Amino acid sequence: MNKTVTITDNSTGKSIECPIMEGTHGEPVIDTRALSKELGMFTFDPAFVTTASCKSAITFIDGDRGILLHRGYPIEQLAEKSSYLEVCYLLLNGELPTQQQMDTFTFSIRRLSILHEGLLSFFNGFQHNAHPMAMLAGVVAGMSSYYHEEMDIYNPAHRDMCAIRLIGKMPTIAAKSFRYLLGRPYVYPQHNLGYVENFFNMMFYLPNREMPMNPTAVKALEIMLILHADHEQNASTSTVRLAGSSQANPYACVAAGIATLWGPAHGGANEAVINMLQEIGDVKNIPAYIELVKDKNNPTRLMGFGHRVYKNFDPRATIIRTACHQLLGELDASGEQQPMFEIAMELERIALEDEYFIERKLYPNVDFYSGIILSALGIPTKMFTVLFAVARTAGWIAQWKEMIEDPDMKIGRPRQLYIGAAQRDYVPVAQRL
Ligand code: CMC
Repeated sequence: MNKTVTITDNSTGKSIECPIMEGTHGEPVIDTRALSKELGMFTFDPAFVTTASCKSAITFIDGDRGILLHRGYPIEQLAEKSSYLEVCYLLLNGELPTQQQMDTFTFSIRRLSILHEGLLSFFNGFQHNAHPMAMLAGVVAGMSSYYHEEMDIYNPAHRDMCAIRLIGKMPTIAAKSFRYLLGRPYVYPQHNLGYVENFFNMMFYLPNREMPMNPTAVKALEIMLILHADHEQNASTSTVRLAGSSQANPYACVAAGIATLWGPAHGGANEAVINMLQEIGDVKNIPAYIELVKDKNNPTRLMGFGHRVYKNFDPRATIIRTACHQLLGELDASGEQQPMFEIAMELERIALEDEYFIERKLYPNVDFYSGIILSALGIPTKMFTVLFAVARTAGWIAQWKEMIEDPDMKIGRPRQLYIGAAQRDYVPVAQRL
């Protein structure tokens, strides 16, 4: 028997049966689509806390058990055994690639990693100290002005081309924005380097210096990219979907996603965590800081803690924490990051034993430790959220493609509960009190 939920309007006695829909995993959802037609009502769910906005076959999160799957594969296995580009292929196509598919995909990404010289000139319009997220959002939106002949969203070949172009060019744009800040010459992407090696080269190469590639650093960044590649219907992904639902081009949609990711409640948290750890400065200052974030009269939050979906450990945080332990020894030979890591571990320990955090099920999220690894890799704080955006491009574009390929796609259009003035007549200015 099909399960339903009955919703009754007590004022009229009218009822409707709302079907309960079941997915492969996770909580069932109530299909409320008939509500407005049958009862003339909408649901009220600010911030979409209990709303499933779409069907998706890409990523699954069980927030209570700390599970994250991409196309069914656990994040722990992908972080250990896969590569970022293979995860991109998986997110986009639904299956792990054969060797030949992977070779073709990698070749296309490399081929399209170079930027049109005209796009490079966009950078000259930015302030010398502009935030790199501002440059990233601007230049990615500007891509729509270059590739409009291959931007028919209803053409599958064009959609694939947009996906490859975005994944290929994102590290190049990110590295260019970093070099622009420092006034360093632009470094072209190299065909003979892997995705992560190429990114390091574009970021750090100097014409007057040898640029040795540290395999530990490459592995660490590869893991970071995999862990950030997709995360279900988070704020930036939902933004990309909403923008795309109006049939806007994918570059504009991803630029909208970048803007949303920038906020400190979302991707900007990795930058905010480092600022917070620096502000705490010493393990002895932690108890006072904990009291500050618990104070309801103070807006300060413990950055890198809490998550809308995870009410248990964020599995990505667990992987990064372990990686931090393993990698800091090798990457941070000078021990520069060690005090920050110690403050982070002590902060985590104290918070996890504190009733405030226990009651609210607030655990460390992916951003709590990611900044420490990125700092150890020599990546400046301002670039952290940019790195998150480079990684999340795969998820954004996979989710955008899935939406466009859904025959039931419609423009997104939430409703509201209007609480403003009741209808009234216009008063000429001379008669206003
Ligand atoms: N520090 C102190 N209190 C917190 C925190 C925190 N980090 N997070 C939530 N709370 C409290 C909050 O004050 C509220 O308390 P009360 O019930 O007494 O009013 C309760 O916990 C529930 O919080 P909420 O704001 O309703 O939770 P939410 O699901 O809307 O917010 C969040 C999720 C991630 C925005 C929030 O936990 C937060 O601001 N965390 C810090 C920023 C951060 O680390 N963001 C990165 C998220 S993971 C990376 C990503 O996916 O982007």
